[in-house]
Amino acid sequence: MNVAHMMHVVRAHGRTGANLANEKLPVPEPGPGEVLVAVHATAVTADELSWPDDVPFTPCHDVSGTVALLGDGVTEREVGEQVYGLIGFDRDGAAAEYAVVPVHALAAKPRKIDHTTTAVIPLAGLTAWQALHEHSQVQRGQHVLVHGGAGGVGRYGVQLAHYLGARVTATAARSATKDVRALGADRVIDYTTRFEEQVADVDVVIDTVGGETLKRSWGVVRPGGTIVCIAEEPSQEQRAAHDIRAEYFIVEPNGGQLEELAHLVDEGRLRPAVRRTFPLDRTDEAFVLRPGRHAAGKVVVQVKGA
Ligand SMILES: NC(=O)c1ccc[n+]([C@@H]2O[C@H](COP(=O)([O-])OP(=O)(O)OC[C@H]3O[C@@H](n4cnc5c(N)ncnc54)[C@H](OP(=O)(O)O)[C@@H]3O)[C@@H](O)[C@H]2O)c1
Repeated sequence: MNVAHMMHVVRAHGRTGANLANEKLPVPEPGPGEVLVAVHATAVTADELSWPDDVPFTPCHDVSGTVALLGDGVTEREVGEQVYGLIGFDRDGAAAEYAVVPVHALAAKPRKIDHTTTAVIPLAGLTAWQALHEHSQVQRGQHVLVHGGAGGVGRYGVQLAHYLGARVTATAARSATKDVRALGADRVIDYTTRFEEQVADVDVVIDTVGGETLKRSWGVVRPGGTIVCIAEEPSQEQRAAHDIRAEYFIVEPNGGQLEELAHLVDEGRLRPAVRRTFPLDRTDEAFVLRPGRHAAGKVVVQVKGA
């Protein structure tokens, strides 16, 4: 594959969309165990500009694209292959024409959807997968409460918990009720009402919201149950006061888990949602749009044709 010497890239020089700049930089070279991916699409995650310790950096850690070059020792992939992945948060992201990705973070792209739709899967889909499989081990027949069931992570949480055979309750905006039920939620509770008066003895809470929602969740979990938090760490006081396992984690890249998610997508069991797309040179607008409410799906930055 012909690889250019220079590429268009978005660099964050601060913590808000206003600090993003469109720049031209040399195309990076993949090191041992790494792959250079020609990016077709990437996606924006809430709050992500506040995560890195140092600036400048390239945002957007989801990637869907084509393998352009292989680093030394890479035998698992071929140039020209269509792949997707999550780029670790200690590295530059994919708001660029090319991104370097460790090969173990990549999987074959789902066959039945385009790159634009694929780009909304890795970060949010892996977060939900790891919450359900690694941090709570949800079993068939258990009752799972997903807070933020219409959100980027929550909608995968609802679909995957339903697929695992759990009884799923979700909290969401009233306007999202039909959508979240269609994803597999048995019951959807309007998040402006008091969910803690409407649900009890839950086996597992997946909390994508934090704040008051997390504080009010302890009372709805059965003794010995689990709260998995991704938006905020549970307090030591609350942990000490309850017989409940509470876990906070940061999602990790995992190509094997992405292979599983791709199969579910191709089987029609997992439906990703794109809220809106922006071209690479308008990534700053994608970040400004982000705080909008009641909108399903993630915002995509499209680098090449879908
Ligand atoms: N730890 C990790 O590895 C990890 C990974 C991914 C994301 N995160 C974090 O997790 C959080 C969620 O991410 P996301 O991408 O899913 O965000 P998102 O797409 O903005 O989704 C959040 C959802 O929560 C809903 N919501 C707002 N207030 C609520 C309430 N009181 N009760 C129930 N639902 C409520 C929102 O509805 P409206 O649209 O109506 O407001 C929205 O649907 C963010 O803080 C993100 O940074 C952490």
